[in-house]
Amino acid sequence: MNQSSPNTDSGLDMVTGTESKLLLRALRGEACARPPIWLMRQAGRYLPEYRATRKKAPSFLDFCYTPELAVEVTLQPIRRFGFDAAILFSDIMVVPHALGQKVWFEEGRGPRLDPVAGPGELVRLSMCSLDENLAPVYETVRGIRSELGPETALIGFAGAPWTVASYMVEGGGTREFAKVKTWAYGDPEGFQKLIELLVDATTQYLESQIAAGVEVLQLFDSWAGALTANGMRQWCLDPNAEIIRRIKANHPHIPIILFPRGAGLMYRDIAAESGADAVAVDSTVPPAWVRDELQSQVAVQGNLDPILLVAGGEVLRRSATEILETLAGGPFVFNLGSGIVPEADPEHVGELVELVQGWSAR
Ligand code: CP3
Repeated sequence: MNQSSPNTDSGLDMVTGTESKLLLRALRGEACARPPIWLMRQAGRYLPEYRATRKKAPSFLDFCYTPELAVEVTLQPIRRFGFDAAILFSDIMVVPHALGQKVWFEEGRGPRLDPVAGPGELVRLSMCSLDENLAPVYETVRGIRSELGPETALIGFAGAPWTVASYMVEGGGTREFAKVKTWAYGDPEGFQKLIELLVDATTQYLESQIAAGVEVLQLFDSWAGALTANGMRQWCLDPNAEIIRRIKANHPHIPIILFPRGAGLMYRDIAAESGADAVAVDSTVPPAWVRDELQSQVAVQGNLDPILLVAGGEVLRRSATEILETLAGGPFVFNLGSGIVPEADPEHVGELVELVQGWSAR
């Protein structure tokens, strides 16, 4: 703690009035001298210390619901790399689980769920015990907050309604989205009831994370790119905008990042209309397009290809530099275009963090 300029809990320096957390400055629209950096899935299997801690829990869900272990893995990448933000360690599947759906993780296969096959099965789900079931996650948030330094922002998150609904209806990951789309196209009113339940549950979950101490929120719409343009408006843009509107009404100072992965040309409408403070872009979108079409409306986050952290070397440096040269002149958060993969080399991650944190606007 700086003796002459006491920091409040928010990191705001009360004497100079400047915000010490770079992430919060960028998300409020500031072009920082160098951009903040954090990586989606920065706590994960690419880190040997994560794999060691992971062994202490019998299942992945138990791991997410054990605050001591979740706090530890959240902090591991902060200690090792000095990222500008920590992201709560949890998973987007805790919401369907807390609503009463059966959820489990199979080694190497990702999440599995007892599928919700149609509107008649929504009675199996209930918001009654949501906060009670998710209490360990809020305890994790409090534990992380008490250990983070004044420069490091804490990000809370949830899956967006469409992405979570796709797992709930398919019963797991899917390539075709056949069941969930057949329901959405064939019975839009019935499907809307599931989306509305998820809007309510996600809003409550995120507001409870704020109460526990997160300073930024990210909504992961990882499967937005499976939708048509009309579908994206109906099942991605509108529900996310509603969640953001409700949270902003109670917590106008909490910045919200929306990640509609694969949104393509729809990124423009989403940036203009969602109410998000920042839009995270996937690796397919050209940085110059992001700058020209999105960055005048919102802060932007992204979009290095995660596989470059497997490859490393000159192509990693060249690709990261191109992104910095194009986007660091405006409000920008350096990140990947999707989550880091288990095969990523921690050495390459270290080199990337050094490159971004050593950047200065030319
Ligand atoms: O970013 C972070 O470090 C915070 C933790 C976090 C996890 N999942 C931990 C996790 C976050 C933000 C997520 C989000 C998430 N989970 C998404 C959206 C983001 C994205 O990547 O698209 C999705 C679709 C899920 C669902 C999910 N959870 C899948 C598909 C898988 C299996 C994939 C895999 O890598 O095996 C998970 C499991 C999971 N969630 C792991 C981690 C670290 C790996 C499982 C393990 O360690 O045993």
